[in-house]
Amino acid sequence: MPTFPTSAAWQALVAHRDALAGTRLSQMWGADAARGAALTFSCAGIAVDFSKQRIDAQAIALLAALARERGLAAAIEKLFTGERVNATENRPALHTALRGDEHVAVDGVDLRPEIQRNRERMRVFAEAVRAGQWKGATAERFTHVLALGIGGSSLGPRLAIEALHAEADGPEVRFVNNIDAAEFDDAVAGLDPASTLVVVASKTFTTQETRQNAAAAKEWIVAALGPEALARHFVASTANNEAAIAWGLPECNVFPFADWVGGRYSLWSSVGLPVAIAVGMARFEQLLAGAHNADLQFRSDPFERNVPVLLGLVGVSNRNFLGAASHAVLSYASRLESLPAYLQQLEMESNGKRVGLDGEPVGLETCPVVWGGTETPGQHAFHQWLHQGTGIASCDFIVVARAMGKALAHHEILLANACAQSEALMNGVETADAHRACPGDRVSTTFVLPRLDAFNLGALLAIHEHKVYVQATIWGINPFDQFGVELGKTIAAQILPAVRGDDASLHPATRHLLDVIRKLGASQ
Ligand code: F6P
Repeated sequence: MPTFPTSAAWQALVAHRDALAGTRLSQMWGADAARGAALTFSCAGIAVDFSKQRIDAQAIALLAALARERGLAAAIEKLFTGERVNATENRPALHTALRGDEHVAVDGVDLRPEIQRNRERMRVFAEAVRAGQWKGATAERFTHVLALGIGGSSLGPRLAIEALHAEADGPEVRFVNNIDAAEFDDAVAGLDPASTLVVVASKTFTTQETRQNAAAAKEWIVAALGPEALARHFVASTANNEAAIAWGLPECNVFPFADWVGGRYSLWSSVGLPVAIAVGMARFEQLLAGAHNADLQFRSDPFERNVPVLLGLVGVSNRNFLGAASHAVLSYASRLESLPAYLQQLEMESNGKRVGLDGEPVGLETCPVVWGGTETPGQHAFHQWLHQGTGIASCDFIVVARAMGKALAHHEILLANACAQSEALMNGVETADAHRACPGDRVSTTFVLPRLDAFNLGALLAIHEHKVYVQATIWGINPFDQFGVELGKTIAAQILPAVRGDDASLHPATRHLLDVIRKLGASQ
C-alpha cells in the first residue's frame, strides 16, 4: 500500500477511494443510469466515455482539486507560452507551437516566422515530389520513399501513414528503423534506386541506428546511380543541420526543426515530411488542425470536463489507487495498428521516471507499462489475461464510428466486439465453475472517433500528449527528458569493438554472453 502525500487533496482522494471500495463498477452503473451521459466528454470532436472507470462526480471533483493543488493551470500555461518546462535540459517543449497560430516567443524571439518558413519549405518539397517535379538523378519520378529514423523520428510518421492509408495518393513510404540489416534488405527489396527518395529523420543526427541505415542507403543509391545522385535522392529532417550537412547533404536538402521539439513530440515538425509526401500537405495540415483543436480545449476547458486532464487524472488514480501497473491500448481499427507502439514511447519514455524535478524520489508509482494491440485479433491472444489474469490493467478502447472499409457487416461486428469487451471487463461473470468465472470490475475508457481521418488522428495524439503532461505535473516529474536510454547506448558503444574481435576490457558477464553468441554463430 503506497504512502500517499499528506496534502488535503491526496487525503480526500484516499478517503473517497475507501468509501467506494466495496462498490462494483456494475453497481455504480446500476445505481445511476445517467452515468454514461454524465461521464462522457468531448475533445476536438472525439467522444471519451469514462463511465466504466471507478469514478463518480465526487471523484472528478476531488481529482480536479488535486490538479489545482499541483498547479496544473499554471503548468499548462507554461507549456504553451514557451517557459523552460524541460528543466533538466533547460529548454521549452513547444510542439504545440507547430500546430497553432498563437503568438509564442522564446527569449523574446517570435517563433512564428521560423515555423512558417520551415512548413513552407516542407510544403514546396512534398508537393514537388508528389507532382513529379522533384525527380531522381535519371529524371525518373519518385514512386517510393525510404524513411529512415527510429523512436520519435519514425513512430509518428508510420502511424499517420498507416492510419491515412485510404487517402495515400503519393509515393509509397517504407520505413527502416532497426539496426537489423534484414529490415533494410526487406525494405529495399523490389525498389529501384532511380525512383526512390531517402528521407533521414533524426533530431540529433547522431543516432547510431539511423546513421548506419543512412550509410547503407547511401551505398545503395551510389552503387546504382553514382555519388552525384545523392543531392537528388537524399533529404533530412533534423534539429542538427550542421551534422546533416557534414554527413554530405546540401543545405537545401535539410528540413530543420528547433531543439524545443522533443523527439517523441516531433511528428508535427519536418519529421512529418514522409506523411506530407504520402498523403499531401493539405492532409498533413489537417493533422495539425486536429491537434491544435485539442490544444485549444486542453488550454481552456474546466478541469472537470477537460478530456486530456481527466485522462491524466484517471490514469493517476488507476495507477496509484487501484495499483494498475499496466495499461492496454486496444485499437478497434486495423489502420491504427501502430497506435499502441506510438503511445508506448510517448508515455513510457516521457513518464517512466523515478525522481521528481527536485531530484528526490517521487514516492508514488509513476507511468504504467503501456502496451496493446489491434482488435479483434488481440481478443484471441491476450484478452484472456485481461479477463482472468492476476494482474490489473486499465484499458483504453479506441473505436471509430464510421466504417473504415467497404463492408458494413464487418464494421458492425467490429463495433459489437468493442462494446462487448468493455462490458465483459466491467461486469465479468459469476458461476459456480471457478474456471469459467470472470471477476469483472476491470476499468476502461472508450474513445470514439467520428471517422479515421487526419483531423481526428491529430486530435487523438495531442490529447495523449497532454494526458502525459498532466500526469507528469501530478507526479512532479519532467516528461521531456530521457536520460534513462543513454546508459545502454554508452555501453553498446564500448562493447562494439569487442563484438568486432577485441574483447580486452569487457565485463565478464558480457564476455560470457558474446562467447555463447559466437559459438552458436560459428556452428551454423
Ligand atoms: O533513444 C531515445 C531517443 O532519443 C528518442 O527520444 C528519440 O525519439 C529517438 O531516440 C531518436 O532520436 P533522433 O531523432 O535524435 O535520431
